[in-house]
Amino acid sequence: MSEKDQILADLERLRAGFRERFAAAKGEQALRDENAKILGKKGELTAILAKMGKVAPEDRKLIGGKTNELKGEVEKAFNDALAALANAKRKADLEAPPFDLTLPGREPAPRGHAHVISIVRDEIVEIFEAMGFAVFDGPEIDTAANNFDRLGFPPDHPATDMHDTFYTTQGHLLRTHTSNIQVRAMSSQKPPFAFIAPGACYRVDNDVTHSPMFHQVEAFLVDENVSLAHLKGVLAEFAERFYGKGTPVRLRPSYFPFVEPGAEVDIGCVFCKGAGCSVCKHSGWIEVLGCGMIDPRVFESCGIDPEKWTGFALGMGIERQAMLRYRIPNVGLLFENDPRFLEQF
Ligand code: DAH
Repeated sequence: MSEKDQILADLERLRAGFRERFAAAKGEQALRDENAKILGKKGELTAILAKMGKVAPEDRKLIGGKTNELKGEVEKAFNDALAALANAKRKADLEAPPFDLTLPGREPAPRGHAHVISIVRDEIVEIFEAMGFAVFDGPEIDTAANNFDRLGFPPDHPATDMHDTFYTTQGHLLRTHTSNIQVRAMSSQKPPFAFIAPGACYRVDNDVTHSPMFHQVEAFLVDENVSLAHLKGVLAEFAERFYGKGTPVRLRPSYFPFVEPGAEVDIGCVFCKGAGCSVCKHSGWIEVLGCGMIDPRVFESCGIDPEKWTGFALGMGIERQAMLRYRIPNVGLLFENDPRFLEQF
């Protein structure tokens, strides 16, 4: 068979089959693939054209004409098939059941909730706000003066040691308690006032009951003729509201540089109700916070007249209240952020 007849036969075979091939293609991609097999760079028609060089010059016109004709037919059939697919899809969309815009939305993921430390912090703050205390904020990085000196810590107090306090390279420190806010409030506000100040604190400490970053709430009230009875009244109210009705409170003398007298506060054990258990070491009492009457020297260091003004202060660890309230055995659980733990609150 001559080259010319061979090509004509190939073209004829292609013409006889391409419509069926397009019709058999399922979906747009399959259709495009089939089209590429014929018209693509390595397609069958392209291969046939490549043989033109071997055809006698007088036959080229005939073969060229037939090839172009077939190419046009294939292109048209391909475009028709593509349009038919698009029409079918549009028809299916139009005939599909409509979206129900009244269906309730579906959340992409559970929404989460506040961390247990935040929950407990907010609850404590709310209790004090209800008693008339206003929130006062202060920085986590502060001067040694605000954190120690003006609160009456002597320069060689063990708490100021590098082993206990994180110092910055520029001579500041990460506050070791929220008592720095007492100094800031008393230096900038005129009494009478009552503030509640929650926040993060830092100490070089890490065991089952201590985390290097933890949270405290400081509360303090300054007015004329404030007595220990006012302090105890506020503590009793707090214990009732936070730990439950009838929770007993007692003050035990203790020492803090910024209060005189100072006390530690115990509540009746929330687990055994005073009968004695392992948590309260069979004493029936659990220590929950420190407090006292503001030392006149602190007033002086903040520019408040100690002859005229009196006040009380108290500070408590939020983690400790959360651990007692929910019987959490290890402070680490509060910071690991394991969802199985956090989801319980
Ligand atoms: N700042 C103390 C601490 O971190 C807690 C404290 C004790 C705060 C007595 C007070 C207070 O306001 O009066 O251990």
